[in-house]
Amino acid sequence: MTIPLLQPALRDDMEAVDRVLREALHSNVALIQQVAEYIIAGGGKRLRPALLLLTAQACGYRGTHHHTLAAVVEMIHTATLLHDDVVDESSLRRGHATANAMFGNAASVLVGDFLYSRAFQLMVTADSVAVLKILSDATNVIAEGEVLQLLNSGDPDVDEQSYLAVIRRKTAKLFEAAARLGAVLGHAGPEIEDSLARYGMHLGTAFQLIDDVLDYTGDHAAMGKNPGDDLAEGKATLPLIRALDTGSPEEVALIRRALENRNLGEFAAVLAVLHRTGALDYARKCAETESGLAAECLATLPSTSYREVLLELSAFAVARSF
Ligand code: IPE
Ligand code: IPE
Ligand code: MG
Ligand code: MG
Repeated sequence: MTIPLLQPALRDDMEAVDRVLREALHSNVALIQQVAEYIIAGGGKRLRPALLLLTAQACGYRGTHHHTLAAVVEMIHTATLLHDDVVDESSLRRGHATANAMFGNAASVLVGDFLYSRAFQLMVTADSVAVLKILSDATNVIAEGEVLQLLNSGDPDVDEQSYLAVIRRKTAKLFEAAARLGAVLGHAGPEIEDSLARYGMHLGTAFQLIDDVLDYTGDHAAMGKNPGDDLAEGKATLPLIRALDTGSPEEVALIRRALENRNLGEFAAVLAVLHRTGALDYARKCAETESGLAAECLATLPSTSYREVLLELSAFAVARSF
């Protein structure tokens, strides 16, 4: 599930990141090692570490802290996935049974905590208060996003603004942090740091908008996770919100019922409404807008091959099928 466009630019760096990760997962407590390795070795696109590596190098960084911090953002991401799959009651992740399905909810939650705290042990080694501030703020905001989403679950009256507030926190914030860290490592100065942070925020927003579309239209083999989880959890994502705003009274009633009852039995009927109302296209258009804004933020960067890959990444966030 690696992203082909990242391979040439990052192969060696990503191997270094994997070495840091493998070492960081070591624990004398066998279950920790087992669960942590299970989810990390399960693959994943390694998008957030890639973002940090690319932005650091686009800013001319020449050290090794980028490998450590790239591993840190992947660990924070993986911890959120362990917790998210418990909350969402998901059963497939990265092409395998989820950790909660394999080892149980308790093990997933606790090993998620291990990953968070190990990530904090590791980030301290960069010896930078700026780095600590970026990562501690991001981790806190992600947790806020997940709780906000929980509060919204089953609620058909969630509007676009509150949906966007959730995805900016739960997903885009870590993209923002990864991109900002690259700039900080490369001593890029406040203007470029700010542009890269905004690039990450827009990219992450586009990425989650497409994730939410794929939850209705995607293929489980390609994605490595099951479509339909959002409806089963009563999550009002943008496609549903749009259909609720523009559907006929019967269509609106159907979606309200499916959301409130968390009823996957009506998945096909809901999907038909999403197609008929153009709600999926609407969500894709919003993702394209975010992706375009991300691309614009790259204008302040010096022209390098890394900037080109960052540009391609903004297109990938929308075009992807996994
Ligand atoms: C999944 O992120 C969670 C979302 C923000 C949608 P990814 O799609 O980046 O997951 P992996 O790391 O590739 O498995
Ligand atoms: C992203 O939301 C979760 C986090 C950012 C932790 P989803 O719940 O849509 O992610 P997936 O679809 O399970 O990967
Ligand atoms: Mg989920
Ligand atoms: Mg999802």
